[in-house]
Amino acid sequence: MTAPLSLDAYRITEEPYYRPAGDEVAVFEAAWRERLPVMLKGPTGCGKTRFIEHMAWRLGVPLVTIACHEDMTASDLVGRYLIDETGTVWHDGPLTVAVRHGAICYLDEVVEARQDTTVVIHPLTDARRVLPIEKHNELVRAHADFQLVVSYNPGYQSAIKDLKESTKQRFCAIGFDYPAHEAEAAIVAEEAGVALDVASQLVAIAERSRNLGGQGLAEGASTRMLVHTGRLVAQGLPLAQAVDTAIVMPVTDEPDVRAALAAAVEACLP
Ligand SMILES: Nc1ncnc2c1ncn2[C@@H]1O[C@H](COP(=O)(O)OP(=O)(O)O)[C@@H](O)[C@H]1O
Ligand SMILES: [Mg+2]
Repeated sequence: MTAPLSLDAYRITEEPYYRPAGDEVAVFEAAWRERLPVMLKGPTGCGKTRFIEHMAWRLGVPLVTIACHEDMTASDLVGRYLIDETGTVWHDGPLTVAVRHGAICYLDEVVEARQDTTVVIHPLTDARRVLPIEKHNELVRAHADFQLVVSYNPGYQSAIKDLKESTKQRFCAIGFDYPAHEAEAAIVAEEAGVALDVASQLVAIAERSRNLGGQGLAEGASTRMLVHTGRLVAQGLPLAQAVDTAIVMPVTDEPDVRAALAAAVEACLP
């Protein structure tokens, strides 16, 4: 027996604000019409998740998001038998729900999952569009509205943590990066509710931090961090304190790097 499930909870009813950087909306729509698997590639906090939420809303398709992690097993994706008062009941995992009922399944930070977990998506990414569930002795054919989307941060890749070449080759990829200055300021102003000149100052700080790459900072301040900073400013914190709380402190634990960042920030403040 399969437990019933409704995808209503996964529908996005209000338009998520998304400011396009280029033609990514049209590119994604083309991939959607062909139901091609898509990889959103870019640094953390640059708008990948917001983009897929916007696209799911725009296309009127439910969105099932799965945050990938090291301990995730194929059963976490596909499903498992659980015991309840009626006996043993099969429960579809979130991937199976999307495949069976028709949704965009978004595997966030897919490299975090172990490679032996990731291979369960392979039969879904070629012409077969099927999900074999061995434990349930079932072959689920993908619903017409199923699409697989993953996010991937190339900055995190290493020999142990990277996608198999055979997995990568199954996806179209759309590149994301931090927006250009004016665009990022407009996003921060909109999302945080601060004036455009304040937002623009925050973006200047982020740009400095992103240039510190060689000095031990893996990634600079993300758009997400700028939005957080802006919110603290909107709550009445002085700019310097908001920047310290939402950017300088979280971004690194190394005192040297933090000092370099604090100095760079100070040069941007009035
Ligand atoms: N192009 C954009 N349009 C609107 N908001 C954006 C955009 N890019 C980034 N943001 C803001 O930055 C935050 C972080 O983006 P998110 O999509 O969560 O990043 P990630 O790339 O890590 O998935 C969002 O919650 C949103 O406030
Ligand atoms: Mg994300």
